[in-house]
Amino acid sequence: MARLLQGSSISSSYLVEFEKTKNIPSRNFSSYFVHRTRNPKRIRNRYRSSLAVSSSLQKEEAQALVKQFDPQIPIEEAFTPPSSWYTDPSFYSLELERVFFRGWQAVGYTEQIKHPRQYFTGRLGNIEFVVCRDDSGNIRAFHNVCRHHASLLASGNGEKSCFVCPYHGWTYGLDGRLLKATRITGIKNFKVNEMGLVPLRAAVWGPFVLINFDKGSLAQQESDTDAVGAEWLGSTKEILSSRIIESSLSFICRREYTIECNWKVFCDNYLDGGYHVPYAHKGLASGLELESYSSTVHEKVSIQRCGGDSIKSEPDFDRLGSEALYAFVYPNFMINRYGPWMDTNLAIPLGPRKCQVIFDYFLDTSLKDDKDFIERSLKDSEKVQEEDIILCEAVQRGIESPAYCSGRYAPTVETPMHHFHSLLYENLCI
Ligand code: FES
Ligand SMILES: [Fe+2]
Repeated sequence: MARLLQGSSISSSYLVEFEKTKNIPSRNFSSYFVHRTRNPKRIRNRYRSSLAVSSSLQKEEAQALVKQFDPQIPIEEAFTPPSSWYTDPSFYSLELERVFFRGWQAVGYTEQIKHPRQYFTGRLGNIEFVVCRDDSGNIRAFHNVCRHHASLLASGNGEKSCFVCPYHGWTYGLDGRLLKATRITGIKNFKVNEMGLVPLRAAVWGPFVLINFDKGSLAQQESDTDAVGAEWLGSTKEILSSRIIESSLSFICRREYTIECNWKVFCDNYLDGGYHVPYAHKGLASGLELESYSSTVHEKVSIQRCGGDSIKSEPDFDRLGSEALYAFVYPNFMINRYGPWMDTNLAIPLGPRKCQVIFDYFLDTSLKDDKDFIERSLKDSEKVQEEDIILCEAVQRGIESPAYCSGRYAPTVETPMHHFHSLLYENLCI
């Protein structure tokens, strides 16, 4: 028994609890703690049925809506997707299943789980998840759902040596194993090693933590960083890692906004090639050289660039620097690099007409103690977000009006938006 406890996070009280509840002689006890590979097929099947979010009829209806957009039509002649893409519940379910529960999704950044035992939680569609760094330093992700009666297990973020369910006290290790099941004396056919948290596949790329919610992906499989980068960013991973993403920047703060609009309205607004900036963000426009605005589209990424107008900026306050770069990583992650700042925006769908946008701000380490610079920069950035929220909520209401069915693209500037809609079409068809 003493040998078992060495180097393990399992405390003796858990062992005693199991011994009591399972009523087993201690000489057989070690077998309950042998870390066996869970039955992946069984877990996958259970997961599959729980994700049957829409009936086949609803799926057919949603598929018909997908086909109302045609990515083959050149942007000059194309209509934007119909309003149903932004309002219809069956379309929304199809999106969750095909867009968000496949491939890599950004969920956080490594600083949140820098040390062993740190964790954070989140939600995407009907999936509740928890990400942590275990005692051996490995990053793990699980469904944040207790195997007893489904209570959510952890909340928010912080540091824990194990996850104790707030409902009846079942306890899980940071590696997902069930360590303690309270008051289960008399239970039969209860296999401890099959009652751990249901794992998800997690990976790290640069400063970002990603999860693959794909029901077919092997959660326990080690994720090769290069392969993850290639899958997530395609050929842009080199440009992004050399020009935009810097792991050495210091995390400054997080801002969260709940917006009464479909998540795509927020993305569309981001992807209009700077079209709305001179009309809706006069303050921001004054620090940019808008005539230099350009966009490029790649596999699953589009990059917009704009020169900064340092002549107009105050000598001791240059938030935007000489060039601003805005990278959109399909489907919902935006990475912005300007001057000494990098910020990321994650648009999380909360329903057909509601989303949450999480802004995380990172700054060049040499400025991380410059409170005045940080305060002024954040104030300017928050002003832009407030302006965008008003625009997005107004667009959602317009989309829901009977006057609107679909719109048109401004061909010379809105190529990133057309690219986004075309990727969605492809993703929803397969
Ligand atoms: S639901 Fe978690 S212990 Fe009962
Ligand atoms: Fe904007």
